[in-house]
Amino acid sequence: MTKTIGIDAGGTLTKLAYLNDQHELQLQHFPSSDLSAVLNWIHQYDIREIGLTGGRTEQIKMMLDMVDSVHYLVEFEATLKGVRYQLEKEGHLFEKSIITNIGTGTSIHYMDTEKHMRVGGTGVGGGTLIGLASLITGIHDYEEVLQLAKNGKRHGIDLLVQDIYQGMDTPAELKPTLTASNFGKVGIKEVIKYEPEDVLATVQGLVGEVITTLSIQLAEQRDTEHIIYIGTTLDNNDKLREIISHYTILKKKTPVFLQDHGFSGAIGALMNILE
Ligand SMILES: Nc1ncnc2c1ncn2[C@@H]1O[C@H](COP(=O)(O)OP(=O)(O)OP(=O)(O)O)[C@@H](O)[C@H]1O
Ligand SMILES: [Mg+2]
Repeated sequence: MTKTIGIDAGGTLTKLAYLNDQHELQLQHFPSSDLSAVLNWIHQYDIREIGLTGGRTEQIKMMLDMVDSVHYLVEFEATLKGVRYQLEKEGHLFEKSIITNIGTGTSIHYMDTEKHMRVGGTGVGGGTLIGLASLITGIHDYEEVLQLAKNGKRHGIDLLVQDIYQGMDTPAELKPTLTASNFGKVGIKEVIKYEPEDVLATVQGLVGEVITTLSIQLAEQRDTEHIIYIGTTLDNNDKLREIISHYTILKKKTPVFLQDHGFSGAIGALMNILE
């Protein structure tokens, strides 16, 4: 069993990346609220060297007494290193790109062949999705939330451009089916009861559209075509990907989704030691 692993201890999830005896990349995650599960996992094996990144690094470090060496790498460096590795592995070659990491919050980066930098971000992210979902439905389980949101309909809650421009043409630059106001119908219609699944789907729309809008603006600013969306928030969430993808393409940019989108930081922390 491997003696070297990469860990990305995030606000919600702690991700692990390592190579097995066949030198294949293995990935798994634990809730960051249960760091002892991570420690138990580490203690099962004779792991001597750890690459560490993420906001919960210090908590993990304090618990790692029997590891010989811990190599810390700043989260943004680790994430971008991981993304570069993943792009190469998946055969992508972009001169420049925007990387949008949808974690608990969302962090946006610019990367070209020589450099990378953080160019923006928003507090709207995966944490917003589960936070609002849990306030609305009382459900904390992520998979359950996704299941409900999947069947929800947004049209009774969101206000579209065509709802505002009734009986007339919309301005040329505004597609009639675009969201004019997320949740905008609620305040101007007399509907008392909304189905939780519809509200959840609308929350998902809000989160996806805010993140995509910001990413597109930053891509335009940097004259960049490709936007790479990563982060565990995309896991098993076809609906969110669809929202992101649809809007990115509408704005004439190219969305890219990586295979192991949640693990860029952990992979980067691992590669930092192996290279
Ligand atoms: N099994 C799961 N449990 C909890 N959240 C999940 C799960 N699967 C997907 N998610 C989503 O993924 C989000 C966390 O994504 P990610 O792991 O990329 O963030 P993080 O690294 O913990 O946070 P940050 O980078 O902001 O510190 C959650 O907010 C939630 O929306
Ligand atoms: Mg993260």
